[in-house]
Amino acid sequence: MMKALLLENIHPDADAVLERVPGIEIERRTSALDADDLKAALDGVQLLGIRSRTRITDEVLAAAPDLLAIGCFCIGTNQVDLDAAARRGVAVFNAPFANTRSVAELTLASAVMLMRGIPEKLAAIRRGQWMKSATGAHEVRAKKLGIVGYGNIGSQLSVLASGHGMHVYFYDTEPKLAHGNARPVGSLDELLAQSDIVTLHVPSTPQTRMMMDAAAIAKMKPRSFLINHARGDLVDVEALAEALQSGHLAGAAIDVYPTEPASKNEEFVSPLRACETALLTPHIGGSTEEAQAAIGTDAGLKLMRYAGSGGSAKSVNFPELEAGDMIAGRTRILALHGNAPGYLSELTKLVSGAGLNIAAQYLNTAGELGYVSTDVEGDVPADLLDTLRNAPGTIRIRTISA
Ligand code: NAI
Repeated sequence: MMKALLLENIHPDADAVLERVPGIEIERRTSALDADDLKAALDGVQLLGIRSRTRITDEVLAAAPDLLAIGCFCIGTNQVDLDAAARRGVAVFNAPFANTRSVAELTLASAVMLMRGIPEKLAAIRRGQWMKSATGAHEVRAKKLGIVGYGNIGSQLSVLASGHGMHVYFYDTEPKLAHGNARPVGSLDELLAQSDIVTLHVPSTPQTRMMMDAAAIAKMKPRSFLINHARGDLVDVEALAEALQSGHLAGAAIDVYPTEPASKNEEFVSPLRACETALLTPHIGGSTEEAQAAIGTDAGLKLMRYAGSGGSAKSVNFPELEAGDMIAGRTRILALHGNAPGYLSELTKLVSGAGLNIAAQYLNTAGELGYVSTDVEGDVPADLLDTLRNAPGTIRIRTISA
């Protein structure tokens, strides 16, 4: 019997997946909970689903000894103390790529809007001005799209843009398989110099931070466009505002900012507000109902697999392990332990010493942690489990029976 607690209005598609765990009971709440309410609500809960507003601290984890796994039904995992969770044997999962398509679609749509001068025409028509003109308005067909970062989003955008007749070029620091007619270029400068639209799809790293500073923006083609739907610190927004005001750039579509309001009640402050050729959106690149549903399924599946088989693939704080389906008549012993020499042989010795036949065994390690799955024939005696729990290096022992 397992209990799952889903907070923050997680998409109902998660339930359909979690219900595959035999005998699971799912409790839902629409809001986030503060630490005290959360501690009370976690009594008897093995699986917890949260989004970005629930903070999981070591204090909360200490008060939740039954908790096995946390699913972050979102992209980021900053709201969870990942090390503390690992130390307490709680696996954490998220859904990092479930909104890829949503971002790619918005980026393509933004390219069309920018090339037609929609941001300033929209601003004008709201003032009652009728900017009916074809001057400076273009189709995206046969224009050069320069993608910086050809990962999940960049490569999907590449396919969508090719479908609209664009000539796609990309720059990535890793070798990437080009989709369709897309072509890699050798340097960022080369991409900036030749693209009608430059679009950023890289993570925020020391190498990418401020990659589009005043000097890089100056290298872009005159009257070209910049799109940043990736991370707020990739672009120097002061320099971008200047390039838009001077007319060097004909427009920009920006969804992410160096500082963003923490809530709806805070004012959005940015030099880009004064730029009528900027298409500004409030960090909603990946925010669609479809993405929420995909996140529900993705994070739900990871929780379901961990609950049902101990599989930790794509966990953000556990060594990844595919333990395989349970086989009738076997018991699986899952041991999270410190990554030190001798643990596996000691565990194997203890299990064999109890007269059990090991039918399958898998181990993986990452950093300071090791995670081993041992399938034995028959049941596991309680005194062996006690011995394993008290063995040097053991963090957590759990068993699953088919
Ligand atoms: P990904 O990890 O699949 O791809 C990133 C690519 O950038 C990789 O191919 C990597 O090799 C490349 N890269 C890394 N450093 C580079 C550099 N210095 N120069 C050129 N290429 C470099 O990431 P994914 O999922 O495609 O996401 C891309 C960005 O979009 C991320 O910053 C992510 O946080 C952001 N994002 C924004 C959303 C929004 O709501 N606006 C929603 C989802 C993602």
